[in-house]
Amino acid sequence: MTRHLLSSDDLTSAQQASIIARAVHVKKDRREHALTLEGRSVAMIFEKPSTRTRVSFEVAVSELGGHPLVLKPDEVQLGRGETIPDTARILSRFCDAIVIRTFAQHRLTALAEAASIPVVNALSDEEHPCQALADVMTIGERFDDLSSVRLCYLGDGNNVCHSLLLAGAKAGLERVDVASPPGYEPDAAVVARAQAIGEETGTVIAVSSEPAAAARGAHVVYTDVWASMGRESEREERLARFRGFAVSSAIMASAAPGAIAMHCLPAHRGEEIDAEVIDGPASAVWDQAENRLHTAKAVLEWVLSS
Ligand code: CP
Ligand code: NVA
Repeated sequence: MTRHLLSSDDLTSAQQASIIARAVHVKKDRREHALTLEGRSVAMIFEKPSTRTRVSFEVAVSELGGHPLVLKPDEVQLGRGETIPDTARILSRFCDAIVIRTFAQHRLTALAEAASIPVVNALSDEEHPCQALADVMTIGERFDDLSSVRLCYLGDGNNVCHSLLLAGAKAGLERVDVASPPGYEPDAAVVARAQAIGEETGTVIAVSSEPAAAARGAHVVYTDVWASMGRESEREERLARFRGFAVSSAIMASAAPGAIAMHCLPAHRGEEIDAEVIDGPASAVWDQAENRLHTAKAVLEWVLSS
């Protein structure tokens, strides 16, 4: 069966742990491991901007000995109305996997249904599973026992938040507390699914509108932009609604001793995170970003081993 990674829920807890373990392994010896993608071509379609995802996947394919093709919609027929299924069928005849950043999740599902090769979600409006893998890897580098880690996510209940809820539950963290302004909470179905996973793995999932209470005693304080790609027109309204949900020095002071601050980046200093936090000693964001490369390699190997 073709392996796709469209959602963080496409991986079992064991598969997630094994992809992260492989990423930890390849990180130790970045240029020494086997050329596991030799002779393979990976098409990468970006319908939204990207720095980390695009560069990490392109470098990952190259370092594993494969050939990455970055396709921008305005340079391929997809941007002129060629359908997603036709694009999937054609790329399946030429390439070995497709990595795609797009808007609605159904574009990914349609691509995967028509493709005969693996499809990887490089961010959709609903999820960012590759980011969540790097996030769990980074938490594992900082804390020996994931089952005693309390993660708090402050801000928009968006794609990054959804994947973090699912991956955090699969990793068996002690708690994932999300605090969002009313109306900006994560999708109720995703929260319910994370709670169901948590019942198996021991993770408590809670959503509130109380940032101070959510952050108190947390080991990891995570945030993301308040206006995601595609939501730029809502920026002014969101800046007003999200006031009080920033990861500030005061929030970090109320977290557990030794707590780390995480952000998937790009960041807006002075909005969702204060400069002294992201640029200070508690910040794990640069390791977190680097881990996108190592997890990208492990994801590509996993989908291509199907
Ligand atoms: N975190 C992340 O996905 O960054 P990019 O948008 O730069 O890829
Ligand atoms: N939630 C953000 C993540 C960027 C990596 C967005 O979708 O724009």
